Parts: sequence; C-alpha cells; structure tokens
Amino acid sequence: MSSATNNSPRADFIVVANRLPVDLEEAEDGTQRWRHSPGGLVSALEPFLRARRGAWVGWPGVADADVEPFEDGDMYLHPVRLNSDEFRDYYEGFSNGTLWPLYHDVVAPPVFERTWWESYVRVNKRFAEACAEVSAAGATVWIQDYQLQLVPAMLRELRPDLRIGFFLHIPFPPVELFMQLPWRTEIVRGLLGADLVGFHRPGGAQNFLWLARRLAGFEPSRGSVGVRNRPGVVQVGDRPVRVGAFPISIDATGFDSLARAKETQARAKQIRAELGNPRRIMLGVDRLDYTKGIDVRLHAFGELLKEGRLDAEDTVMIQLATPSRERVEHYKKMREEIEREVGRINGQFSRVGRPAVHYLHSSVQRTELAAFYCAADVMVVTPVRDGMNLVCKEYAACRHDLGGALVLSEFAGAAAELTSAFLVNPHDLDGVKNSLVAALNVDPTEGRRRMRALRRQVLTHDVDRWARSFLEALGTNLTS
Ligand code: ADP
Ligand code: G6P
Repeated sequence: MSSATNNSPRADFIVVANRLPVDLEEAEDGTQRWRHSPGGLVSALEPFLRARRGAWVGWPGVADADVEPFEDGDMYLHPVRLNSDEFRDYYEGFSNGTLWPLYHDVVAPPVFERTWWESYVRVNKRFAEACAEVSAAGATVWIQDYQLQLVPAMLRELRPDLRIGFFLHIPFPPVELFMQLPWRTEIVRGLLGADLVGFHRPGGAQNFLWLARRLAGFEPSRGSVGVRNRPGVVQVGDRPVRVGAFPISIDATGFDSLARAKETQARAKQIRAELGNPRRIMLGVDRLDYTKGIDVRLHAFGELLKEGRLDAEDTVMIQLATPSRERVEHYKKMREEIEREVGRINGQFSRVGRPAVHYLHSSVQRTELAAFYCAADVMVVTPVRDGMNLVCKEYAACRHDLGGALVLSEFAGAAAELTSAFLVNPHDLDGVKNSLVAALNVDPTEGRRRMRALRRQVLTHDVDRWARSFLEALGTNLTS
C-alpha cells in the first residue's frame, strides 16, 4: 500500500465486488456489528486477499450506511454507499431480479425493468469512481461478478493506466438466453473494457466470444478455449481482450486442517449424539436460493421415506440454509415452499424428539460448518444450475478420513471436476432417489476410492491456484 498526496492510501492490488467481505448488521436497538458476508465469492477471495494485503472496494451490506474506509487485519476496506432506492433497484432489482435468473437458465422468469437498469448504470459508475480513487498508478484491479459488469469499461475510461481483470462467479448463459436482455450490447461492451474476462467453464467463455462479434462487431479468435489455458482473444482496436476459463476453488488446506482439529472431531461426534446417534446423516448446506435445488432433495427424501426405502428411525436429513435476498419475490415464495415441505415430511415421518428433517434458517461459523461436514455420511448438493458450488469442495476437503459420499448435480460447474461424486440430474427425481440410496449404502472400499479422488482434485486445485492462474493470464506479478 502506498500513500497518495491527499493522504488516502492507494493500493497496487484491488479487488472490487458488490459486497465487502464483512457485512454491517444493525440490531433493532440500533447497535451495529460486522459479520462475515454470505456467499462463495467472499469465501474464496477473502483468504487470498488477506495474504496479499490488498484493498477491497465494496458495499457494506446495508442501505444508507455512511462508513469511512478502514483496515481489517491485513486488508484495506473501502466502502461504497447504496441508498435504499439503489438497494431496491440495482441490488434486489437488476442484479437479483434480472441478471441472476437470466444467467441461471431462466429457472425463474427474469424481470426487465428500465428503472432498474438506470440504477445499475449509476451504481456501476460509483464503483468505477471508487476504484479509480484507491488505485495506485499502474495497479491491478480485479472486478468481480454480475453486479459490476459495466465497471471494466467505465474504469478504463477513468484510468487507462490500470490493468483490469473481470471474473464472473455465476454461469454465463447460452447466447439465446442472453439475447433476451434489452441491454445486452451495453453489458458486452462493459466487459470488453477489461484486459482479461474470466468464466468458470470454457462454455461460458465461448458464448461470450460469440456475443462479442454478434453484438459489438469485434472479431474473436476461433480456437476452442481450454481450462486455465488457451484463452480466446477479442481485438478491441489496438487492445487485445483475453477471454478464458478459470474454475474457482476453496482454501482447501484451511478446511483440511480445520477438520483434523481435535475440537472439530469432538464437535462432529457431539452433533451425531445430539441427533440421537442415527445410523446415517444426510446434509445440505446452501444459501436459501431457488437455484440450489433444496426442494429437489426434500422431495427425494420424502418419497424414499414414504416408499419405505429409507427409515426416519435411522436416517436423518439436516439442511443448513443461510438467509438470502429475503425481500425478492422468488425468494419469499421458495422459502415458504421449502418450509412447508419440511413441515409436511416431519408431520408424517417424525416422532417426538426425533425429527426426520432438521432445518436451520441461519448461517453457522466455519468451525461449526467443518464439524457438520465431518458428521455427514452423505452430502447432498443438487442445484438446478450453479456457476461452480464451493460447498461440495469444502466437504471433500474436510474428509481426510476418506469417509462420506457426495451426491452432486451435473448442473453445478464443480461436476466437471468432481467426477467421482454420485452425479445426478436434479430434474430426474427417480435418478436422485436412486443415487441417494446408492451413496448411503456405498461399499466402504468404493466410498474411500471415490473420496480419495475427490480430495486429490480439490487439494491440488485450490483457490490460490485459481487466483494465480487468473492473475498470471492477466500479466500481474504476484510477490507472495
Ligand atoms: P453461493 O456462492 O451461490 O452461495 P457456493 O456453494 O459457491 O454458493 O458458496 C457458498 C458459501 O457459503 C460456502 O463457502 C459455504 O460454506 C457458505 N455457506 C452456505 N450456507 C452456509 C450456512 N448455512 N452457514 C455457513 N456457511 C454457509
Ligand atoms: C453468490 C454471488 C455473489 C454474492 C453471493 C451472496 O456467491 O456470486 O456475488 O455476493 O452469492 O449473495 P448476496 O446477494 O447476499 O451478495
């Protein structure tokens, strides 16, 4: 970190994301405290940025909050303010009512609303200005995710000296879906302001290359994009924009050591005991989002109990669900449906003191989460669409005992890497049921073989490797 003439620190490496890694929480009595922000983006990037003493530009998580820049351990946090109209129109509206469902294969209908778009443009401009303010000459700015797709071009306009990377943490949709967006050309042009545009999968990169020609009229390279290699190139005037695939991951050794700790192992045993020592535990861990397929696994579990293929006396399901985007209509509806389904299953199959489904609408600490992973015989990850999904990688990283089994949707980006999981099509309920039963009854030798392969993948492809491969492709030299 160097110092600028006006005394505000200027950084050589800046991450900008809609959210800061910490979230300001206001209690009813007016007291405030900082909490860890939800979601995979923060889980992945925070440990990486802390190790590099960079700056993070983002929103503090509540509307109308005036927060001065501050240091948090080894990070410099630079808050961007959103007022309550912007919270509604830019965040809940355009980001999560238009882009989120559109990019997740329209599993819910996206809403196209002009005032939301106008707010998105205004807020993206504010983020670009904040980045321009905190960046030292020639700094690297790494812009994150769908909320900020206009920032690359806006920032280039303000600061042509910067090296600009952009990474999309969610799927990039098929071109025929993207073409529905009334502001499709503006988004493509916004992203082309970066020097490197990254996606999880080569398919997303390939879709974007096609759109760069169709919507912006630039000639892209023709070869197929590889994973972490062979990026495509779009020539924008005299500036090459590289377009590549960089599958994100987790702090794998961090989870591995957490899981090996005596306290975590003891807590895992205690969780089993608190549940009445059932023979088998199935676990789901998600933000409460309609893309995660929480309903799919509940339906599958309910039917298996009804058919007598599973017995609630010896098999329980735990669902940890982090509250998310609670005022957005699709989320309200989904929460009601899920809670009704939990009630239905418990009404039919539980007895006093022995619920079939344990549902917690809350977020738990990382140490507690690791204990749940260690306690679970089967981890159930069934999104109908997910850019990557980090939960399944965290589970594998925690199973140094080679125990447990992973049931994973083919529609999660992680399925391309975690091929030793029990892969399922979440739209095929019978297939999901059969895979749950197979995972619960897997032969121990076969189970260990699968888990060893999952762990090999996760431990050798961690978040550090992801970030390094992206930043090397961007041409940034990392010193630590
Ligand atoms: P998304 O980014 O869409 O939320 P990911 O699976 O990529 O999905 O990342 C979710 C992150 O949030 C993971 O790091 C996971 O551990 C964490 N998480 C999800 N649900 C909970 C929960 N109930 N308590 C604590 N952490 C959670
Ligand atoms: C996903 C998105 C992130 C987002 C997170 C939590 O991981 O890719 O950009 O921050 O979900 O969602 P929220 O709306 O609470 O920020």
